[in-house]
Amino acid sequence: MRAMTTTPSQRLARGLLPLTLMLSTATFAQDATSGGEVEVLNWWTSGGEAKALGALKDELADDGIGWQNMPVAGGAGTNAMAVLRSRITSNNPPTAAQVLGYDAQDWADRDALSSLDDVAEAGNWDEVFPQPIQRFAKSDGHWIAAPFEIHSTNWVWANTSMMEALGIEQPETWDDFIASLKTAQEAGHTGLAYGGQPWQDATVFENVVLATGGADFYRQAMIDLDPEALDSDTMVESFENFRELLQYKDDNSPGRDWNLATAMVINGDALYQIMGDWAKGEFLNADLTPGEDFMCFRTPGTQEAVTFNSDLMIMFDTGDEQQQSMQRTMAEIIGSPEFQITFSQFKGSVPARNDLPSDELDACAQRGYEQAKAAADSDTLLGSMAHGYAAPASVKNAVFDIVSSFVNGNMPSDVAAEQLAMAVQGASS
Ligand code: BGC
Repeated sequence: MRAMTTTPSQRLARGLLPLTLMLSTATFAQDATSGGEVEVLNWWTSGGEAKALGALKDELADDGIGWQNMPVAGGAGTNAMAVLRSRITSNNPPTAAQVLGYDAQDWADRDALSSLDDVAEAGNWDEVFPQPIQRFAKSDGHWIAAPFEIHSTNWVWANTSMMEALGIEQPETWDDFIASLKTAQEAGHTGLAYGGQPWQDATVFENVVLATGGADFYRQAMIDLDPEALDSDTMVESFENFRELLQYKDDNSPGRDWNLATAMVINGDALYQIMGDWAKGEFLNADLTPGEDFMCFRTPGTQEAVTFNSDLMIMFDTGDEQQQSMQRTMAEIIGSPEFQITFSQFKGSVPARNDLPSDELDACAQRGYEQAKAAADSDTLLGSMAHGYAAPASVKNAVFDIVSSFVNGNMPSDVAAEQLAMAVQGASS
């Protein structure tokens, strides 16, 4: 990794600010922030995630800003959001918090956030962040969050040597994918590394919905929340396909954390994991090389679209000038070209900005970056239901409930589709 030694004035210079404004802002930032400390609530606790977060901490340190980490373990932020709510309720907000799309909008609606408009204007954010990201990082035309990256959830992570030993070629269709899992199982291996937690159930399920029904169906069901799509034959078929897929997980999956499931693929204890590209951060953290030690490919049958989420840093309006100045510095770092690349190199994601060279990204990320940009242009960058970009939290949690009941019980597929439609309707009305 390249050391990052940029100063605030260098970053501002990249935003091509007039010299006078550049100097005055940089001086203000230095005076007002020196000796200060930011408290940052996040759920980045795995090896790869912690390294990515460390890049932010180091950059802030270069600007003389101290770091108080506020980690809340629990994938997809399921626990972090409860802790954040209680911090706000007790009138003790952190400086900043990692959140997902609809949650960012929710905090903006409550008037809890600092505006980042000045940083966004200096950094030309309106031009460099794609519309599907702006839809969530802006509220009423104002920037309320700094986007770290684009993650996407329709990826399979595969153990290359197991594939070779089993004579498995990269599957292109859903049927071939299932056939390859069967091959692994018949040879005595676990096919699918699986973490049985509601958000992980939903992450895998949204892959199956996209593979089964295609992009238009995914949008109707998961984003438009159309009751007819939710309780349709295609949704029944999605649950059927999901049930079939679940045969290839092992018996110890209930409750397993996502990164432990990733470790199963890393260690050759399972062939595949279906997971967002934060899983790649674990492979990279184990010094493995994409395309050699492990493979990444779009979940077979989902190649026409990219299901995405993006981690957003929101800044709470504390009324404290020093905090505000440090918040602006932090937003400026997060949005800067170098940081977007460095962060994604650790995190497994791709930059949220669409104007960056991709030569410093790994082979998976280079493909992922092109795919995400093409999907944004062709309206097939679809919000992830499991990760807060398809529907508000109430709906998301209702989906989690039904999908996890399906995973952990014997619910027939037609009942599951019917219940899904009812639960979504109840949660969105
Ligand atoms: C976040 C990722 C995180 C993953 C696992 C997702 O919702 O966007 O940054 O690595 O959850 O916790």
